[in-house]
Amino acid sequence: MLILGVESSCDETGLALYDTEQGLLSHALHSQIDMHAAYGGVVPELASRDHIRRALPLTRHVLETAGKSLQDIDGIAYTQGPGLSGALLVGTSIAESLAFSLNLPTIGVHHLEGHLLAPLLEPDPPEFPFVALLVSGGHTQLMRVSAIGDYELLGDTLDDAAGEAFDKTAKLLGLSYPGGPAVSKLAAQGQAGTYQLPRPMLNSGDLNFSFSGLKTAVLTLVNQQRDTLDDTARANIAYEFQEAVTEVLTKKCMDALRKTGMKQLIVSGGVGANARLRERLNEAARRRHYHVHYPRLEFCTDNGAMIAFAGAMRMQQKMQESDHSFTVRPRWDLAELTKP
Ligand code: KG4
Ligand code: ZN
Repeated sequence: MLILGVESSCDETGLALYDTEQGLLSHALHSQIDMHAAYGGVVPELASRDHIRRALPLTRHVLETAGKSLQDIDGIAYTQGPGLSGALLVGTSIAESLAFSLNLPTIGVHHLEGHLLAPLLEPDPPEFPFVALLVSGGHTQLMRVSAIGDYELLGDTLDDAAGEAFDKTAKLLGLSYPGGPAVSKLAAQGQAGTYQLPRPMLNSGDLNFSFSGLKTAVLTLVNQQRDTLDDTARANIAYEFQEAVTEVLTKKCMDALRKTGMKQLIVSGGVGANARLRERLNEAARRRHYHVHYPRLEFCTDNGAMIAFAGAMRMQQKMQESDHSFTVRPRWDLAELTKP
């Protein structure tokens, strides 16, 4: 079964072809980062308009790369939510129109389910059940994943997501959007011991997170250092901030594995691309004989491959008739998903 995947929930247009026998055949992405950078964040209307420009050329591109034609496709999966409503509407309407004209079944995929399953696209994927850490711009969640669609929330952030904290810290340090990679790059030049930042909820005993206090602590530091905030000071703050976030994430992941008795952890979402987080998780897991799985770097952030894959997994188990009418779900709780 050959599935075309369409991702357009935020500032990346992603297309991919996933074959249930042969695996991922092709994928392509256009990132709008340069377009939004001038505004310091995503401008929703510009995002929607750019998705319109990119979606069909990228569709042609993935078909050509895979040596396939539209007639070879067996189903179309698209991100139905959560995300920016205008951006979602572009991918959704293109996917449903294509499917209508080709008489194909469709499936609206939950964006976070896409992220969650992305590590399964890699060689030697984990088997169910496992613990998942989902760390993106909008989410910081620990989950017990027992099967496709069988997700139990173990812990969540009480306020800001980890990616959001990276983005806000980047702004405070005068770095460009998106903040995660920029903070991480600056942190590589920083040193330990100059500043101290809190490790929020490190020993709270539960699996929840809180990152807004950390952001406030960075703000206080930046204000205190205003006259002496040179490149070295900024690098040292970035370093300490990254240490604080990755220490908390690592500790809670180990707690989640211990509490559930599981041995496998998967990490997904944009912050999962962070090299220091991977280093800490790998080290902590190695000592306890746990195994950590990540998506390749380009599949940590938004992409079409994870949507094609999640859609294929669901369609394989349950084909749904579609009349090709559609709605998007800009707000959609992962807990509402059920098994296919
Ligand atoms: O998963 P994603 O692409 O989009 C959402 O669905 O939110 O995640 C984007 C988030 C942003 O907050 C970005 O700053 C962060 O992931 N991010 C990183 C890194 N790369 C992306 N954070 C820390 N280190 C990175 N290397
Ligand atoms: Zn995402």
